[in-house]
Amino acid sequence: MKTIETIRWDDDTSSIILIDQTRLPLSYRVVRCRSVDRLITAIRRLEVRGAPALGVAGAYGVALAARTVREKDFHRYLEKVETAALAVAHARPTAVNLSWGVQRVLSHVYRSDSIAEAHHLSLKEAIRIADEDARSCHAIGDHGSALIGDGSTVLTHCNAGALACREWGTALGIIRSAVESGKEVRVIACETRPLLQGARLTAWELKRDNIEVTVIPDSAAAHLMRRGEIDCVVVGADRITHDAVFNKIGTYMHAVCARAHSLPFYVAAPLSTFDPVHSGSEIVIEERDRDEVAFYGGYATVPEGVPVRNPAFDTTPLDLVSAIVTESGILQPPLDWDYIAQTRRVI
Ligand code: MRU
Repeated sequence: MKTIETIRWDDDTSSIILIDQTRLPLSYRVVRCRSVDRLITAIRRLEVRGAPALGVAGAYGVALAARTVREKDFHRYLEKVETAALAVAHARPTAVNLSWGVQRVLSHVYRSDSIAEAHHLSLKEAIRIADEDARSCHAIGDHGSALIGDGSTVLTHCNAGALACREWGTALGIIRSAVESGKEVRVIACETRPLLQGARLTAWELKRDNIEVTVIPDSAAAHLMRRGEIDCVVVGADRITHDAVFNKIGTYMHAVCARAHSLPFYVAAPLSTFDPVHSGSEIVIEERDRDEVAFYGGYATVPEGVPVRNPAFDTTPLDLVSAIVTESGILQPPLDWDYIAQTRRVI
């Protein structure tokens, strides 16, 4: 498999380098974020996206803030780093990994006794988070590949691949690991309206690794399930609460259809995506710009003045989920939250 390094820290220029995912598959370009404001723009524009990659972006964002805040007084310095860090954490509301990555690195900034130490500790922790994410994805892949039968056709939604993580991926990590272990796997990638993360990104990644992939309109999934052309569904997650899995809009309808056709519905996510604190109803579901739905290729597809709803995520109740694949193994709902809280690294 070819390496994709979605996001990394560049020591020479003290900046964050990320693949600009808005341009794929037309062109492969990287963006350099030298300021926290530029990173926030990249997060909002989905130049970097996907829950685990957002966790890494949040972590590097605090390391960047620690370096770019200009303040000699240490107390005021800490306040300014915190303000910048929270701005990063609030750039998108739904994926818990973003605030998790920010808080984890921020806690190391608070432990510092000097500005120089804050520089050192914040970057050290951010790099640790990025490395952990890579290891988690490979472990998710190793655990999850056991669920994928040889000769299977797997339906996936959005992009839960290397581009959504530091590398390898969660849902696509399972597929990569299954293929690497010698299994024949075909992927049906739902295009994922309106921003087409499935058509643009999942198909790009899998084609690059010579994994068989076919793109379908989101609305064709139930039809293919009814015809017996899908063996299981594997998706990623942006947040897992006690009662629901938050993921890209459209995931819930795949879970309902999978249940109606007696197909397994698997979720792949690192423990950093679990939220032991909030219930589903407390979570803000990001509503994005009207134009993402009302225009296609620059042309209006909705008459001017007609309202549009553009929720970016939906919630799938846990009783529709067959299993959740994490780096520490396969969990079956109902979840043992004491085990999750113990295993998940507590800040
Ligand atoms: O809006 P996006 O592209 O950030 O949404 C991403 C998803 O919904 C992914 O499925 C999720 O983050 C899991 S990524 C491993």
